[in-house]
Amino acid sequence: MTSAATTAERGLEGVVAGSTGLSNVEGGAGRLTYRGYDIADLAANSTFEEVAYLLLFGALPNRSQLADFGVRLAANRALPPQLIDFLKALPRDARPMDVLRTAISALGLFVLHVDDGSPASNPRSAIHLIAKTPVIVAAWDRIRRGLEPIAAQPNLATAANLLYMLSGRGPISEAERALDTYLVLLADHSFNASTFAARVTASTRADIFAAATTALGTLAGDLHGGAPAKVMAALVQIGTPERAEAYVRETLGRGERIMGMGHREYKVRDPRASVLEATATSLGGVADPRWSELARALEDAAVRVLAERDPENRVHANVEFYTAPTLFSLGIPADEFTCVFACARMAGWTAHVLEQLAHNRLIRPQAAYTGPEQRSWAPFERRDAAHA
Ligand code: COA
Repeated sequence: MTSAATTAERGLEGVVAGSTGLSNVEGGAGRLTYRGYDIADLAANSTFEEVAYLLLFGALPNRSQLADFGVRLAANRALPPQLIDFLKALPRDARPMDVLRTAISALGLFVLHVDDGSPASNPRSAIHLIAKTPVIVAAWDRIRRGLEPIAAQPNLATAANLLYMLSGRGPISEAERALDTYLVLLADHSFNASTFAARVTASTRADIFAAATTALGTLAGDLHGGAPAKVMAALVQIGTPERAEAYVRETLGRGERIMGMGHREYKVRDPRASVLEATATSLGGVADPRWSELARALEDAAVRVLAERDPENRVHANVEFYTAPTLFSLGIPADEFTCVFACARMAGWTAHVLEQLAHNRLIRPQAAYTGPEQRSWAPFERRDAAHA
């Protein structure tokens, strides 16, 4: 290491690893903005398409820009038939996130290539990825159930199309609005693990499909995007609100974590959790209200018991917590929750890749070496004798 180098905390906690103009997480205040717009304002007033445009191009679209963007997304939704055949050849019990990661990697083989043979990393490829990710998610949902995939409708936006392609029925407006709000809330989040991973990949000048594949691999773990399926399992296990506290005590007693609670950046309640809680509750009219009631009971119990155990370290609900009742109420199976997260975050990942490439420098940190000091090489005779 150079003399000026410092050793980062484990997990790079507190390290500013680069800069971005895309989103800003103010963890102490519980504030999240996309290009200066508060997430609560965007969730209340803008669609996912407006937000994807904002992230990719830097400003909210006017009406004609939004219409043009919608047409471009619609024109890019159809999957290559070979990709659908490929999905049909996969084992039916393959996990949806593994299938999505593999399909996005394969998609790069079919999409526009530039002269050097690699798919171009540009807004056009970003639109391919944002448009096709929900189509792949819905196609796999149906293929694994032994059904034919349903093509997207050109007149439907991303959220409505995803619900339609999953169910084959026209979405009801409350459900469409709830999913659209979810997609807005999850579209970007600064240098979270998957976005940082995508930027590292892009910084080597690997293409945008490789970067998206990296991001999907990183999103899957339960310390990141894989948490909500486990929140759902907890809600099912609890069954009634009165059981919530016992569940929390038993889980912590086994040394396990309460999924959907805690965040590296937010030291107060995640602002997205508050919007999503209201969204989940608003679905009570069209879905079983039990799930959001159970979620509220589990959050209250977790906050109370964790504060009792360590009053200095307050742990609050993160966005993944209310993802579970929201997406489950929309009829989405728990093992597809992370895939739906990816549908939203594809907008952020691709915008970050383009931002990285606009001012690229290879991301290549150092490591503090903790292995043995210099050792002398030994022939087999000496090594065998040492183990005899
Ligand atoms: N359940 C119980 N205790 C938790 C907790 C949780 N979900 N999250 C944090 N804590 C407590 C623990 O006491 C921990 O101390 P310990 O390491 O001695 O057990 C302390 O807070 C600090 O946690 P730490 O893991 O250092 O924080 P982090 O910044 O590295 O972790 C998460 C952030 C998200 C990884 C962590 O909160 C977590 O594991 N949450 C559950 C998974 C989840 O919801 N993932 C989705 C994130 S959006």
